[in-house]
Amino acid sequence: MKNSLFVLLLALVTTASASPLKIELPPEIPNFKAAPGVEVAMQQCLVCHSSEYITTQPPLSRVAWKASVEKMKGKFGAQISPEQIESLVDYLAKSYGPPTP
Ligand code: HEC
Repeated sequence: MKNSLFVLLLALVTTASASPLKIELPPEIPNFKAAPGVEVAMQQCLVCHSSEYITTQPPLSRVAWKASVEKMKGKFGAQISPEQIESLVDYLAKSYGPPTP
């Protein structure tokens, strides 16, 4: 009984893999706002996720963006150098922060 179950499973697995599944992902087009520092964001912030993770946030303060960048580095292991943190935070706070009066 156990053996026939195994054979059945094996047959199912082999038939399933007979026709390879083709998955087409939509093209990834980063849409960061052009501003000083955008190159660092393009280089550092698209390694793990799309630009939408940043562009769809509500306006965040400089402090909040700094915390976010430090979280990407500290918790998620982003390879961001200390010098890049400042320009990233400047760029993010200017481009995706609350409007300055
Ligand atoms: C090493 C991988 C990695 C890199 C590089 C990275 N992130 Fe993330 N980011 C993550 C992960 C993991 C999440 C959480 C995903 C989830 O919760 O679904 C995330 C989520 C976010 C979020 C959503 C809010 C949150 O905290 O979950 C923001 C905003 C964000 N990242 C900003 C950035 C910015 C800005 C950069 C560039 C400085 C960056 N990320 C680079 C891994 C990374």
